[in-house]
Amino acid sequence: MRTPLVAGNWKMNGSRVMARELAGAIAAAPPAGVEILLCPPVSLLETVAQAVAGSAIAVGGQDVSEYDSGAYTGETAASMLAEFDCRYVIVGHSERRQYFGDTDERVAAKAAAAHAARLAPIVCVGETLAERQAGTTEAVVCRQLDAVLALGNINDLLPRMVLAYEPVWAIGTGETATPAEAQAVHEVLRQRLAASAAEAAGAMRILYGGSVKPDNASELFQKADIDGGLIGGASLKADSFLAICAHAA
Ligand code: PGA
Repeated sequence: MRTPLVAGNWKMNGSRVMARELAGAIAAAPPAGVEILLCPPVSLLETVAQAVAGSAIAVGGQDVSEYDSGAYTGETAASMLAEFDCRYVIVGHSERRQYFGDTDERVAAKAAAAHAARLAPIVCVGETLAERQAGTTEAVVCRQLDAVLALGNINDLLPRMVLAYEPVWAIGTGETATPAEAQAVHEVLRQRLAASAAEAAGAMRILYGGSVKPDNASELFQKADIDGGLIGGASLKADSFLAICAHAA
């Protein structure tokens, strides 16, 4: 049995007042039977960690450096995230890949850096609209996953890792993959994982992300290989985020 995970990716949104209120409201009434994770901007990690202290809500980062420390202006090391009680960090989000040049190899290196600091990497994969229309969805997501599977220590890494399938054309657009479309890709990803590590493949949570809302979450989460969600816009309001969490429970 995989415990579902619902992660809120706040992206570059929020203030200290907002973070205290939103995280506090989520921590006050979390549904049981689902693991809940909040990923605020780095500047709000401490505020959120304080607001959820004593609850079951986990805190995570949105990205991490592939380096341990040193002259990397603007970067945040995994060990630094760990100091804020982060248990997870998102790597390879399509916005990082599109706007900040994160390559498959860099994403894999970031996953390894997270793992080395005992953080669980949430590795995001997903195709653009052009790639879907060209019929290359499976090839793209498998290529993105393969970069991680090519790391040396996957037997250690995979039991900790979470995978997120996020079709780029569905992120922040209000368009969402149908449950059947999403399930088809999730199944491909789990099979790809199983070819490297059967047990870890069966245990790994594969989240769906891309315009998940309270009214489409239930159908998505009912699919066999969809183990929760990575939520952007709808994670910025306590009621919509909690409603999505309740559907995963
Ligand atoms: P969205 O974002 O829910 O706003 O589409 C999802 C994501 O980017 O993780």
